[in-house]
Amino acid sequence: MAEPTILVVGSINMDLVVRAPHMPAPGETILGQGFTTAPGGKGANQAVAAARLGATCLFLGRVGDDEFGKALLAGLVENGIHSHGVRVTEGVPTGVAVIIVDQKGENSIVVASGANSYVTPDDVFEHEALFAQADVVVMQLELPIIAVMAARKLAAKHGKPVILDPAPARKNLPADLLNVDIITPNLTEAEILTNQRADEVSERVDKAMATDLLQMGARSAVLKLGHRGSLVVSTNGEIARVRPYKVDIVDTTAAGDAFTAALAMGLARGMELIDATQMANAAGALACTRFGAQAAMPTAQEVRQLMAEQPGM
Ligand code: RIB
Repeated sequence: MAEPTILVVGSINMDLVVRAPHMPAPGETILGQGFTTAPGGKGANQAVAAARLGATCLFLGRVGDDEFGKALLAGLVENGIHSHGVRVTEGVPTGVAVIIVDQKGENSIVVASGANSYVTPDDVFEHEALFAQADVVVMQLELPIIAVMAARKLAAKHGKPVILDPAPARKNLPADLLNVDIITPNLTEAEILTNQRADEVSERVDKAMATDLLQMGARSAVLKLGHRGSLVVSTNGEIARVRPYKVDIVDTTAAGDAFTAALAMGLARGMELIDATQMANAAGALACTRFGAQAAMPTAQEVRQLMAEQPGM
């Protein structure tokens, strides 16, 4: 069977990562335990994850004409990603993300978008052929919204399913943008998008948020709930809680990216949404077991193994 083709329209960042005993409070200085630079960016992470899971992966985005840009572009190519849709932007720095990872493996991230913020609707329209080739189109919100909207429009024109990972989330997004096949927020992102507060951890709250996302235009909402697994709610009436996998957490950075890539892979292979979400839970869990973003993206074999080791619990 030919491997599916996934088009990622998204961000490319160099991650500047420090491990810390805890997240600093406002005004607090703390001593970290090391510093690394490593390839990241939600779009690039998802592309690397999709490629490791066996997809033919196409990428559309921008880097700057600096050392980070060169290294990141080379990294995409090394991972087998078709990067002719990546434009090198003169006189502009490549995107960077400053990441703190605490002892529990939780992270906080600040992104300086750099070249990512130069992606235009014209960049997207110039690469219309990539949309024609793709089985599934994946987007996030680290690019200008008008460029993401152009990608959604072209995917619709070519009848290709779209997954929107609405991260980083923001309020009052154009209604048109949320008119996608699948939206994949975590709980914090769902709160921001729906203007609701999850005052309690409960299935009722999860469902209320997911239902709101459907009313905002998505055909399916897949809520990433961390150690609680995922919730799938669709306009066709489907509602399902999808079980989590138990792993030892080292670093949660990019777990959501592994999830979204695996979901895209499942969808592109023609899997039912709930089965694809089960596979996505496994990919997300595996990404938590290793340090870093792209370095932590699992292979198809690792995902199969975890699913076999932890059948229905
Ligand atoms: O999802 C993790 C990613 O978010 C990091 O790699 C960082 O670059 C930011 O985009």
